[in-house]
Amino acid sequence: KKIVLAYSGGLDTSVILPWLKDRYPGVKLVAFAAELGQGDELKGIEEKAYASGADEVVVKDLRREFAEEYCYPMIRAHAVYETDYLLGTSIARPLIAKHQVLAAKQTKADAVGHGATGKGNDQVRFELTYRALNPRLKIVSPWKDPAFLASGLTDRETAIDYAKKHKIPIEQSKKKIYSRDRNLWHISHEGAEIEDPASEPSWKNCLVMSLTPEKAPNKSATVTLGFARGNPVSIDGEKLRGEQIIEKLNALGGRHAVGTTLLVENRLVGMKSRGVYETPGGTILYEAHKALEQVCLERDLFHEKIRLASRYAELVYNGQWFHPLREALQAFFDRANQVVTGEVKVRLYKGTATAVEASSPKSLYDEKLASFAMDGYDVTAARGFIDLYGLPMTVAGRRQPPKH
Ligand code: ARG
Ligand code: SIN
Repeated sequence: KKIVLAYSGGLDTSVILPWLKDRYPGVKLVAFAAELGQGDELKGIEEKAYASGADEVVVKDLRREFAEEYCYPMIRAHAVYETDYLLGTSIARPLIAKHQVLAAKQTKADAVGHGATGKGNDQVRFELTYRALNPRLKIVSPWKDPAFLASGLTDRETAIDYAKKHKIPIEQSKKKIYSRDRNLWHISHEGAEIEDPASEPSWKNCLVMSLTPEKAPNKSATVTLGFARGNPVSIDGEKLRGEQIIEKLNALGGRHAVGTTLLVENRLVGMKSRGVYETPGGTILYEAHKALEQVCLERDLFHEKIRLASRYAELVYNGQWFHPLREALQAFFDRANQVVTGEVKVRLYKGTATAVEASSPKSLYDEKLASFAMDGYDVTAARGFIDLYGLPMTVAGRRQPPKH
């Protein structure tokens, strides 16, 4: 028996290595770590994995695939969950799970597993992806195994004790620990004082990539983004790849306090949870992409796209990236984005990102039509239009006694 485990080096995944060795004597463990732009979290990951009991370690740099084949499709869809969440953790899980399935094939493993807890969204995202991509693999999920709980592992505090006892290198201390998830697209923070919606989080302790608006410069900055068919392709005229664009915008946006959100969200598994999210680069990209869509998309298409975006966001949030509906909706969004090409200038200032200029060879904006000049537009036609468009309301109005 051999298990490919999603391994981050964090507390929740570290404790399951020795535990699995106990639980399944003779089991071989492959620790799979994905480089997704989580800063220096991956430093020394191999040694750490071996020290925790791994038999093999696979580390894969997935930054480009993450940026261009996961984050970019989300930009084209303009996906936002519950009006505020740019889905940074949700979108990374199917990619990690996909590469675990590939690693299982390469290492001849018969099982895959993860260290997400039994109360969160992440377990669902991992496991739905395993099922979609290889239903024959067995799934190991210690945090919801009764035997795991029976060994006293019930929360992060007991996990710290367990790690110490098994000499597993971890960084957490017992006082007020945040549960964080970092990648190119975002950093999420949950737990500790953030869990009380009636009190403001400690920004100073919590924020990693971003300044607060108070600390941000008093002078604004601008950045010009180039898009081709809805995909970001350049910054200030310089052609760059997805991972470079997001990384640069994270640094710039973070300095200007852009893209920090605090929200209470509905988890798929039922409860509400509160989190702080830093998505500086993503926020700038969404703002710029929206400005270009406003100029390039035909009205009815734009309206339908807005409606479908929240359905798409639910699918991403719920771990259904490899669902046929997500793929079909993606085809719709991608078709709409064929004309979303051009440049947008965004101004950043103390927590805001505002698209201030947009130009496109595919623009539908007609200055002559938009202005108040009468020529080129038969205003007398508007009268007949309102007569017919308003006919049902006129008829319904006649049924009532006059209101005014
Ligand atoms: N609540 C967010 C989501 O469901 C963030 C989850 C963070 N995950 C983590 N393992 N710290 O997408
Ligand atoms: C976890 O429970 O493992 C993290 C939070 C989440 O998945 O929603």
